[in-house]
Amino acid sequence: MAEVLVTGATSGIGQAIALAFHGAGHRVTAMGRDPDALARLGALGLTPVPMDLGDVAGLSDRLATVLAGRVPDVLVNNAGMVAAPGNFCDMDEGDIHRQIATNLTQAILVSRAIAPGMRARGAGHIFFTGSIAGHTPYPNMAVYAATKAALGGFAQSLRLDLSPYGVRVTEIVAGRVESPLYKDVLTLDERAAMYAGQTAVQPDDVAAMVLAVHAMPQHVNVSRFDILPARQPVMAQVAAAGGKK
Ligand SMILES: NC(=O)c1ccc[n+]([C@@H]2O[C@H](COP(=O)([O-])OP(=O)(O)OC[C@H]3O[C@@H](n4cnc5c(N)ncnc54)[C@H](OP(=O)(O)O)[C@@H]3O)[C@@H](O)[C@H]2O)c1
Repeated sequence: MAEVLVTGATSGIGQAIALAFHGAGHRVTAMGRDPDALARLGALGLTPVPMDLGDVAGLSDRLATVLAGRVPDVLVNNAGMVAAPGNFCDMDEGDIHRQIATNLTQAILVSRAIAPGMRARGAGHIFFTGSIAGHTPYPNMAVYAATKAALGGFAQSLRLDLSPYGVRVTEIVAGRVESPLYKDVLTLDERAAMYAGQTAVQPDDVAAMVLAVHAMPQHVNVSRFDILPARQPVMAQVAAAGGKK
């Protein structure tokens, strides 16, 4: 049985990953902010931990308190947010800071809190939920794309730092996944338009891949996997949906 810590476990992809590890018999700590979702996860037997990861001041100390010296076997750095899509020139400065903190800085700090223990133990597996937006130009989401590109760069370089110690690192490169990610920044119609013409990947699909990758023998590191709808050739749909904002 592995100790698993999932950030952004209260919704969408992270919740599916947390529940899948829990269902496979592992001990799962589920991090997020939504109190109702945390309570539901607690009722199912996961360990809920409320934490605002977007507030990076003092985050390392808060993490140290929560971890209390424990080192998870698996860390899934999944928490993330997206600001309203739109031309960069019109972007709210607060949204720039929020996306960088929530999608990038916190994931680096959470890794910093846990990777040394994995290195000392000579085992561990760190996942990052990246995005295809970090690997291909993506109009109207320049800062989101930048955070995911940086996250991918961090993940791949971290893998090199940790590979001599037997610690595995995997970047999840997700395409369109049907989740509440855009619920606060797009209307229902805009969200429907994003999924038109394709069947979106479901959070459970991503979770199934994560568990399969983790189940590979210790000598195998799947350093990155791309998972996108079979009918999604490019990411232009979201730009069309939100581009006029
Ligand atoms: N859906 C897609 O098409 C897609 C594609 C590529 C990559 N991704 C990435 O997948 C990851 C999960 O997103 P999702 O699609 O599953 O969306 P989601 O359902 O909105 O999940 C986002 C998760 O991140 C958590 N989170 C956001 N801000 C946080 C904060 N300040 N502090 C702590 N937790 C925070 C949320 O928790 P609370 O609500 O409890 O705060 C929630 O659990 C993100 O990194 C996203 O960028 C998604």
